[in-house]
Amino acid sequence: MFDAPWRRKFQRRVRNWFASNARDLPWRRTTDPYRVWVSEVMLQQTQVQTVVGYYERFLRRFPNVRSLAAAEESAVLRQWEGLGYYRRARQMHRAAQAIVRDHQGKFPTDVEDVYQLPGIGRYTAHAILCFSQDARLPIVEANTQRLFARLLELEEDPTRSKGQRSLWQFAAWLLPRQSVSSFNQALMELGSLVCTPKTPSCTGCPVRDLCPTFSRGRQSEIPIAKQKMNYESRLEVAWIVPDLAGRVVVRHCQPKERWAGLWDFPRYHPGVATPRLAVARSMQQLAVDVGKVVQPTELICTMQHGVTKYRITLKVQRCLATETWPLPQHYRWASQEELIELPLNQTARKIARLLIAL
Ligand code: ADE
Repeated sequence: MFDAPWRRKFQRRVRNWFASNARDLPWRRTTDPYRVWVSEVMLQQTQVQTVVGYYERFLRRFPNVRSLAAAEESAVLRQWEGLGYYRRARQMHRAAQAIVRDHQGKFPTDVEDVYQLPGIGRYTAHAILCFSQDARLPIVEANTQRLFARLLELEEDPTRSKGQRSLWQFAAWLLPRQSVSSFNQALMELGSLVCTPKTPSCTGCPVRDLCPTFSRGRQSEIPIAKQKMNYESRLEVAWIVPDLAGRVVVRHCQPKERWAGLWDFPRYHPGVATPRLAVARSMQQLAVDVGKVVQPTELICTMQHGVTKYRITLKVQRCLATETWPLPQHYRWASQEELIELPLNQTARKIARLLIAL
């Protein structure tokens, strides 16, 4: 079934569909590889609607590779705050510095050079080169992966190497000779708007009669579900340690930790089941870390949030304000104004807003 006439029909249908269904997204109006890069990195783990606002703000602050390379990491993370997966931002910052150092600040055009940059894998490299200079390169990312899996009626796990091989091979085979950029964007758009994970809109699909998964009604089976995450509940405690001037202790998260490069309130996972014990145990850990035994006062709030496989219940505990004292490395006192400026993880930002409002 996958012969040249099939491919021609497929390409024509997808292009026609895209001509009347493409969303007007800001990164579709540029061929600047830097801008395409920013959009693709943001889109890697984040919804289109969320990315739009971040994308424009980020580019106002860092309009080109050189301005990004010259920035402090904390300024980059502050712009990224709320998008999550902060490693993306740290790697992009390092890649910008590599581009300034090795490519005179111009985004490389050779695919092998692009692969060498931190945080850029095959899909991102191909997307940047394809959307900026119409390079004839296949793209398999979340949306097209699902679309291709259904077109191939793929029985393998699309995220594992055997499935990936089939998908990349198919993506390369599908490519037209010309206007590859708009074709690849059309495929992503079809995956994103029509060939959705749950209950895809097959009635509005321009290629449903070419899709074996549709003809056998197997849309809910393909792509096959990836293994379910085994969530683990845990109790953590964040400490609000104020001094008499109203500043609070914050900690710079270190490389290889969660939220590396961002700031957080001193936070502990004491590994005990009850909040009372968790507060007592974490207070001892806090005393060791900041060199001071604090006196707990009220529980400010309890937050629920998820990080990777953890479902975290976070107790936010305040202690009595005292005279200031010198803090060890990686800790500092932050005033309200400084809390606004520092890059914080999402729960710390919520806590900071609460503290400022209180
Ligand atoms: N997801 C990843 N890249 C995308 C793009 N360029 N447009 C829409 N969704 C995407």
